[in-house]
Amino acid sequence: MKKTFFIVAAMAFGSWQIQAETKVDFAKDIQPIFEQSCIKCHGPEKQKGDLRLDSKAAAMKGGKDGPAIVVGQADKSDLYRRITLPPGSDDIMPSKGDLLTKAQTDLIKDWINQGAVWPEQAVAKAVETPAAKSESTPETGFANLKEIKPTSAEAGAVTKLESSGVPVRPIAMNMNWREANFHTQGTNITDGTLTPLKDVLTLVDLNLAGTRVTDAGLQNVGGLTNLVTLHLEHTKISDAGLANLKNLSHLAYLNLFDTPVTDKGLEQLKGLSNLKHLYVWQTKVTDQGVTDLQKALPKVQIYRGWENDPASKKEEKKEEKKDDKKEAKKEAKK
Ligand code: HEC
Repeated sequence: MKKTFFIVAAMAFGSWQIQAETKVDFAKDIQPIFEQSCIKCHGPEKQKGDLRLDSKAAAMKGGKDGPAIVVGQADKSDLYRRITLPPGSDDIMPSKGDLLTKAQTDLIKDWINQGAVWPEQAVAKAVETPAAKSESTPETGFANLKEIKPTSAEAGAVTKLESSGVPVRPIAMNMNWREANFHTQGTNITDGTLTPLKDVLTLVDLNLAGTRVTDAGLQNVGGLTNLVTLHLEHTKISDAGLANLKNLSHLAYLNLFDTPVTDKGLEQLKGLSNLKHLYVWQTKVTDQGVTDLQKALPKVQIYRGWENDPASKKEEKKEEKKDDKKEAKKEAKK
C-alpha cells in the first residue's frame, strides 16, 4: 500500500526527489548495513573482487565483474543477487559471518529501486562486527564450571530438540558440556520450540540469533546457570526478557546486537560478574547506560559498533590470516 502511494505520488510530482514515508534513507538504513557487514572486505583495507563499498563513486564503479549496482533495478544488480542467494552458495555475500536478514536485504532492494541515493559526502567505515566476533569463541574457559552429570530429563529434551532440527551437541569429545544452535533454523524457531531447553543443564553455549524467540521464551533459559555464551542478536528480546538472565553467573559472552534493548535492560545485567563481552550495536542503549554498566562490571568490554577497540583489532588480524589462506588455496586450485 505504502509503496504504491510512493510510486503514484512520485509520478504525480514527476520526480523521485520528493520525500515520502517509505523512502529508504542511505545514512540511516543502508550505511550501517554496509559498515557492519561489507566494508571489512570492500573498503580501504581490502578490496575483494576489486570492489569497494565505502564511497558513492567506488560503489557505482563496481568490481571485477562490472557494476554491482544497477540504479533503479535491484533484480539486475549483482550486489542484490549476492546478498539474497541461498545460504551456502559460493557467491553469497557476506562471504563470511552472519548473513543479512530479510529485513536488511529488503531495505537494500528498496534503496536500489528508489535510485540508490547516496549523498556524496557519506563515507562508510568498517565497524567492529558482532557477526565476525560470533565465529570466535571468547576466551572464557570452561574450567570454572563444575562437572555435572546429565539428568534423564536432559536426554529426553535433547532428543526433542534434535527432532525439531536443532543440533544440541557436546562441545568436545569426552565432555558432557553441550552447545545448541537454533540460529540455523532461524524464524522457524518460536518460544514453543525452546521449551525442552530448560532441562538441558549441561548447556554452555546457546545460539538463538535470528529466531522468533520472545521475552517469555527466555524463561526457559533462566535456569541454565552453566551458560557461558548466549547469542540473542537479531531477535525481539527486550528489557523484560533480560530479567531472566540474572542467575546466569557464568555468562561471559552476550550478544544483543539489533534488539530493542534499552538502558533499563542493561541494568538487569549488573550482577553478571563474569561477563566479558557484551554487544549492544543497533540497540537503544545510550552512553549513560554503557557508563553505568561499566561501573558495575569493570571487566566487561562493551561493543557499540562505532569504533574499533584494541582487542577487536587483534582478532581481526587473526581472522584475516585465515581468510587470506583460504583465498590462496582457492587461487591455487584455479
Ligand atoms: C569476508 C569478506 C567479505 C565480506 C564481509 C563481504 N564480501 Fe563481497 N566479496 C568477497 C570476496 C572474496 C569477493 C570476490 C569473490 C567472488 O567473486 O565471489 C567478493 C565479491 C563481491 C561482489 C562482486 C564484485 C565483482 O565485481 O566481482 C559483490 C557485489 C560483493 N562482494 C558484495 C558484498 C556485499 C554487499 C557485502 C556486504 C553485505 C559483502 N560483499 C561482504 C568477500 C567479502
